[in-house]
Amino acid sequence: MSGEQRTSFPKGKIEVVLLEGTHPSGTALIEREGFSVRTMSGALEGGELLEAVGRAHVVGVRSKTQLTGEVLRQCERLLAVGCFCAGTNQVDLEVAGSMGVPVFNSPFSNTRSVAELTISEIIALHRRVSHRSALLHKGEWDKSAERSHEVRGRVLGIVGYGHIGSQVSVLAESMGMRVVFFDCESKLPLGNADAAGSLEELLSVSDVVSLHVPETEATRGLMDRARIGMMKEGAYLINNARGSAVDLEALREAVDSGRIAGAAVDVFPEEPAKRGEGFVNVMQGAENVILTPHVGGSTMEAQEAISVDAAQKLIRFMNRGTTTGAVNVPNVDLPSQEVEGVRSHRILNFHQNVPGVLGKFHEAASGLGVNINGQYLRTAGDIGYVVLDADPSGAEGLKDAMEGIGESIRTRMLW
Ligand code: NAI
Repeated sequence: MSGEQRTSFPKGKIEVVLLEGTHPSGTALIEREGFSVRTMSGALEGGELLEAVGRAHVVGVRSKTQLTGEVLRQCERLLAVGCFCAGTNQVDLEVAGSMGVPVFNSPFSNTRSVAELTISEIIALHRRVSHRSALLHKGEWDKSAERSHEVRGRVLGIVGYGHIGSQVSVLAESMGMRVVFFDCESKLPLGNADAAGSLEELLSVSDVVSLHVPETEATRGLMDRARIGMMKEGAYLINNARGSAVDLEALREAVDSGRIAGAAVDVFPEEPAKRGEGFVNVMQGAENVILTPHVGGSTMEAQEAISVDAAQKLIRFMNRGTTTGAVNVPNVDLPSQEVEGVRSHRILNFHQNVPGVLGKFHEAASGLGVNINGQYLRTAGDIGYVVLDADPSGAEGLKDAMEGIGESIRTRMLW
């Protein structure tokens, strides 16, 4: 190391590439921080993708760009990935983690949008809106109150009382519905909602059943033929969660027979990969069935909220090393340390999670006579991540020493 003081990598030289037309509000936040941002509208693949992201420090994608292990390994300067969407399936998380590259997403920014779609469907199903609208489009004036109901006083059964389920609960109660819910974990009932003792109990009392569970072994086929058969005569089923949760063949039969009075389905076992592709499903043409193309979370407001949330997570990581919200590396957030008004220099280190690594860092610090003012280490799976604030005088040497330790994956310094 030369005697001259090196400075933190200039922000303007940090290249952020945002693909797939992420909402401009997140872009503006990143630009305001002084990073150099390049935006592109579409999803890319192959050589074009590598051309765009190969030299980037930060890459932002939505759900279509596949950041496979092969692609990631060729991005040598990559420091972080932002998924400007709820899921992270499009990124090889293991490879990213093994490179010391945190992957951030925005799982809850569209919660309200899904809840609002669900509420609109609860009313629309009770009033047979989709059926009446379809008839009228064909010129048939079906004016009658038959099989139409107010939702006030009706029982809504919510399966999965997490972020979305609990929002639906609050909104439904404000319309005068009685809410029962079933969750596999113990949950605090909001408002006047009641926890059902079992899913079967919920099905037997609900006028409308709305699913808000994740896709797991236990929820695959959750609403099978037998459980659909346990629903009340004339009840409605809403699935805005995951396509695998409902046996659609059985639902179609129950709707056709009139036992189930209608359904709303936003998610399907097999969905087209792209907008504009054709779609064939057993529920098509069924009476009083609302079909939507997986748009529960798709609103302009959600897009904006997702973009801001993902951008803020990337900014906090680039500026402070904070990995809160990362899905593939330990979450660490160390407050800034100041000693007698002098801000410490911050060293970020991803390393293999094997015993003794922290000891080696401390040995290096004491060998160099560098004071550590603050430190936070966490490990998860194969990866350890430590954020360490050191006295400015010796921080550069300590960073170099940490980088040289065999288990280190990636070391960076900020100040
Ligand atoms: P969350 O994780 O906050 O809540 C899920 C709840 O389901 C948790 O309380 C969990 O304990 C419960 N649960 C898990 N397994 C269960 C089981 N076997 N039985 C009963 N309860 C169970 O998730 P969040 O954000 O509320 O999302 C819920 C669903 O909505 C997810 O499947 C998500 O993928 C889907 N979603 C759909 C969107 C769309 O566009 N249609 C957009 C956003 C989310």
